[in-house]
Amino acid sequence: MNILLCGGAGYIGSHAAVVLAGRGHQVVIVDNHCNSSPDVVLRVQQLTGTRIESHCLDVRDGGALTALMSAQRFDAVVHFAALKAVGESCEQPLAYFDNNISGTITLLQAMRACGVRHLVFSSSATVYGDPELVPIPETARLQVTNPYGRTKLVMEQLIEDVCRADPGFSAANLRYFNPVGAHPSGLIGESPSGVPNNLMPYVCQVAAGQRDHLRIFGGDWPTVDGTGVRDYLHVMDLAEAHADALEYLASTQQSLTVNLGTGQGVSVRQLVETFARENDCALPYEIVGRRAGDVAEVYADPALARRLLGWEAKRDLATMCRDAWRWQRQGQGVCDMPDGSDEAAT
Ligand code: NAD
Ligand code: WQD
Repeated sequence: MNILLCGGAGYIGSHAAVVLAGRGHQVVIVDNHCNSSPDVVLRVQQLTGTRIESHCLDVRDGGALTALMSAQRFDAVVHFAALKAVGESCEQPLAYFDNNISGTITLLQAMRACGVRHLVFSSSATVYGDPELVPIPETARLQVTNPYGRTKLVMEQLIEDVCRADPGFSAANLRYFNPVGAHPSGLIGESPSGVPNNLMPYVCQVAAGQRDHLRIFGGDWPTVDGTGVRDYLHVMDLAEAHADALEYLASTQQSLTVNLGTGQGVSVRQLVETFARENDCALPYEIVGRRAGDVAEVYADPALARRLLGWEAKRDLATMCRDAWRWQRQGQGVCDMPDGSDEAAT
C-alpha cells in the first residue's frame, strides 16, 4: 500500500513508519515539525534502508494536502498529527481545537476530494476520562476531562459521521493507552520539549542526572501500592497495530474502534522499580500530592483488538524500560528539536 503518515515524524509516527516500511508498504511523511525534528526522517531512512519522502506541511493547509494527494495515489492515511499536552490544552484550548479538530476536518476534506478511502486515527484512552470499571472495554462510557481529551472525542465523532455518510470510506479508531519505550536500535524515540509531562520520559531524565528526582503524584490512591496505575505499552507493539489496522481496512472495508494496551495495570512504583533494576541505576523519588485531573487506575481490555486485528502487545515492562533508557543514552543528544536544518524535508 502507499500510505500517507500525517504527523509521521513524531514519536509514534516515526516508529509506525519503520514498521510499515519493514512490511513492504511505501510511506510518505507529512509533518509541520511543531513537535519533531526533520532529522527523524533521516533516522527512519537509516533504519529501513529506504528513501522516505517527507513534506514539511501543516494538515490545516488544505491546498497543499490536496495537491500532494492528487499528485500520487494513496491507499490510506494514518493521522497522528495533533497537539497532545493535557496541561497546555487547558491553558490554550482554542489552539488545540484549531490544530486538532480543524486539522482533522481539512484532512478529511482532502481525502474525500482525492478519493482516499481508508483512515487510521490516533485516539486515546483519554476519551474514557475517569473510568467506571477496569479493565476498560470499548463500550465504556465516554467522558472528557480536559480540552485535549475533548478534541480526541470530537475527532472520533467527526470520523464516525464521515464513515456513516460514505459507505465507501472506512476508518480504524485506535485508542492508545500509555505508549513508552523506543526502537531497540536507540535511533528513534520520544523527545519531549521542556519538562516532560509523562512518567517514562521524566524517569529517563532523572536516571540520566538531568533532573534531581521524580515526584510521584500521590501515594494514597486506592491501588496495589497507593500509586497511580496505568497500562504502559511498548511503542513498537503500538506501531505494529497500525500495520494490522491498515491491512484490516484494506481487506474488510469495515470500520472499527479498538483499545491498544497490554491489559496489565502497572503502578508508578512498579515502573520505577523495574526501570532501576533493568538499567541498574538509581532513581530517587519523593511522594507528593496528587496531580489535578489524575485518576487511580486506567488499563485496557484489549480483547477486541486481538479478535479483530489479531494484535496483542508482546513486549514486557522490562523491555520498555531498557529500550527507553537506550534511547535516552544514545539517541537524544543528537536528535534535538528543529534547528533550521531541514535536510530530509522536500
Ligand atoms: P508527537 O507530538 O511526537 O507527534 C505528533 C506529530 O504531529 C509531531 O511530529 C508534530 O510536529 C506533528 N503535528 C502536530 N500538529 C500538526 C499539524 N497541524 N500539521 C502537521 N503536523 C503536525 O506525538 P505522539 O506521541 O507521536 O502522538 C501521536 C498521536 O497519538 C497524537 O495524535 C496523540 O494525540 C496521540 N496519542 C499519543 C499518546 C502518547 O502518550 N504519546 C497517547 C494517546 C494518543
Ligand atoms: C502516568 C502515571 C501520574 C509524571 C497522559 C494523558 C493521556 C495520554 C497519555 C495522550 C500517573 C504519574 C507522572 C510524574 C508521576 N496522552 N506521574 N510523576 O496521565 O496516564 O496520561 O499521557 O493521549 O491523555 O493524560 O500519563 O505518563 O502523565 O502519568 O507520578 O512526573 O505517572 O500521576 O499515575 P497519564 P502520565
